[in-house]
Amino acid sequence: MKPIQVGLLGIGTVGSGTFNVLKRNQQEIQGRAGRGIEITMVADLDVARAQSVVGPDVKVVNDARAVIANPDIDIVIELIGGYGIAKALVLEAIAAGKHVVTANKALLAVHGTEIFAAASAKGVMVAFEAAVAGGIPIIKALREGLTANRIQWIAGIINGTTNFILSEMRDKGLDFDVVLKEAQRLGYAEADPTFDIEGVDAAHKVTLMSAIAFGIPVQFDKAYVEGITKLGAADIKYAEQLGYRIKLLGITKRTAAGIELRVHPTLVPAKRLIANVEGAMNAVMAHGDAVGTTLYYGKGAGSEPTASAVIADLVDITRLHTADAAQRVPHLAFQPDAISNTPV
Ligand code: HSE
Repeated sequence: MKPIQVGLLGIGTVGSGTFNVLKRNQQEIQGRAGRGIEITMVADLDVARAQSVVGPDVKVVNDARAVIANPDIDIVIELIGGYGIAKALVLEAIAAGKHVVTANKALLAVHGTEIFAAASAKGVMVAFEAAVAGGIPIIKALREGLTANRIQWIAGIINGTTNFILSEMRDKGLDFDVVLKEAQRLGYAEADPTFDIEGVDAAHKVTLMSAIAFGIPVQFDKAYVEGITKLGAADIKYAEQLGYRIKLLGITKRTAAGIELRVHPTLVPAKRLIANVEGAMNAVMAHGDAVGTTLYYGKGAGSEPTASAVIADLVDITRLHTADAAQRVPHLAFQPDAISNTPV
């Protein structure tokens, strides 16, 4: 069967990771998807740089609409970011009957209702595992793994930049401004880190988790959002003396009055696992009535961790939309029996 053809809009850090991992793990991915998956066309403003990433066999253009208009492309990956052109392109891809994979949490948290309605009307998928907690498969955990549950609450460290800043403030007794500069130097924080430090990025992510967990429309505008900019080294020290760590948590919870949706610095007892998530790592706890409390930990950003999530969505779409029903069952065996136990 002919491979699924994918068009990539924007080949920066995550796009390059996606291209490289798809190539490197081609055999495993094809085995699990039941069909090959290939990025055959890329749109990027810097055509020369993009071509150097993907090599001569992939068509590179500077016009994203040329990718959407290509009838051979089955899935469009949007990695441009932001609300402006990305929104127009995602809606155009949907209108053209393409499935969409995106890491764009800001776009979906703000315009998700419109985008999901358009996709539903057209019968295509919009998949966004990479939009929340990078490499942690939290969307699939909520949607599939915990599907039997009535979810009661979710709480998570879902912004690596702020977790890095809080960890450094605690470890080194430094003030916020000093550590922010260090985070920017190390490439954790954006040059304009407002969305990170003001809690907006975490609010985008918890908004998406809330919608999935509770089956409600995405409602970023209803979230309470407070970042970490007002915290000083003294706050962290006093918290420590009282047996707590300060973490920026995204929280969504079922209550008698409705669903809570909030992001703010939170005192977490130091002995809790989530209090010990350090540096730029992410962790999400989800509590379901049947399963109890579950915890997911991993890298919330970065080239290949985020690519891991993008490709998981490509595989999902490939499985679900492969015409041959037999191919929809993910193959467990994609290579010959290779067990080789070393005698002990
Ligand atoms: N700026 C985000 C973070 C990147 O620090 O977690 C991943 O969404």
